[in-house]
Amino acid sequence: MHDEINEIIQDYDMNKITIGTIGSHSALNIFKGAKEEGFRTICLCKEEDQITYQRFPVADEIIILDDFKELLNREVQEKLRRLNTILVPHGSFIAYLDLDEVINDLQVPMFGNRHLLRFESNREKQKIWLQKAGLKQPRTFTAPHDINGLTIAKFPGAKGGKGYFLINTPEAFQTKAKDMIEKGFMKKEDMDQIYLQEYIFGVTIYPSYFNSRLNNEVELLCVDRRYESSIDSLGRISAKEQLNMNNLTPTYTVVGNIPITIRESLLSEYIRMGDNVTKISEEIAPPGIIGPFCLETIVTDVPEIFTFEISARIVAGTNVGIGISPYAYVKHGEEMYMGKRIAKELKVAIAKKKLNMIVT
Ligand SMILES: Nc1ncnc2c1ncn2[C@@H]1O[C@H](COP(=O)(O)OP(=O)(O)OP(=O)(O)O)[C@@H](O)[C@H]1O
Ligand SMILES: [Mg+2]
Repeated sequence: MHDEINEIIQDYDMNKITIGTIGSHSALNIFKGAKEEGFRTICLCKEEDQITYQRFPVADEIIILDDFKELLNREVQEKLRRLNTILVPHGSFIAYLDLDEVINDLQVPMFGNRHLLRFESNREKQKIWLQKAGLKQPRTFTAPHDINGLTIAKFPGAKGGKGYFLINTPEAFQTKAKDMIEKGFMKKEDMDQIYLQEYIFGVTIYPSYFNSRLNNEVELLCVDRRYESSIDSLGRISAKEQLNMNNLTPTYTVVGNIPITIRESLLSEYIRMGDNVTKISEEIAPPGIIGPFCLETIVTDVPEIFTFEISARIVAGTNVGIGISPYAYVKHGEEMYMGKRIAKELKVAIAKKKLNMIVT
């Protein structure tokens, strides 16, 4: 696939590169950055979301799709290539498209290492990657009867953690799982694939990095936390009222993101963590991470940093940095943010004829 993509790039008009993505997730962030760096932009979105990309006019062209899967259609791909498009993948590529099709059949150059996207759907693969990089992770339990202490049960297909539940013992697991199936949060078949992980009591911190292959440096650009329903509303009612609410099951559906700056003494560890996962990525999926990636971490009161997930692409949490990201500002000056950092890397790569280093 890499050779094919290289051939496609050879035919591109480097003066007329278009940055494209699916209209969702972090598209405004990506398009705004692209526009600021002088690129044309193309948005592939659903009819009902078109209003977003019209009212925030950062897409030069909008293509309406009935289903995001139509991105894989031959005619759509041909059109994108005709416009010299480089796609920037984000969370909706993972959530709504078939990963194998994205990796093998999407013959449009993508910014980033498409092979690392495969790690997103596989918690075991992520665990090994993080382990090799020396990051501390929550313990996992292989079967429900091993549960020992506060545990979070995650099951496949629960986008944004909807319906994940907490248990303390194997018995509590059986009761709660039955309840979740009855409530329709979980399918019976999911029971075998449930992922049981030690619940870390602390605050969630999501650092977003950018690995610049051109500069050979990992930049920490932005930090956020998620605003999750219903877990983040628990503190708004008293414990007494909570006890009166039958069947109160906190869930983790992401509704938004909140910007964060972290205690400066924690920064050095976060920087080293970003460097280490990048180094290991070069071994597990050469040439390794290209551009944005994010760690999902929880920091305890020790303080100790536990990492429970990694995404090797832009995350929606970087949207909090559009125009105002403090760490991006310290590094690059005013108005730097992830979408713009991506566009800047592309611009420099085009000027230096090194585009093949950063697209796959
Ligand atoms: N080990 C843990 N300890 C404490 N809280 C956790 C743990 N794992 C996950 N959470 C909480 O649950 C949320 C969802 O978990 P996780 O990110 O693993 O789900 P997900 O299905 O990957 O969702 P997404 O794809 O949106 O990231 C997290 O944002 C965090 O608030
Ligand atoms: Mg996650």
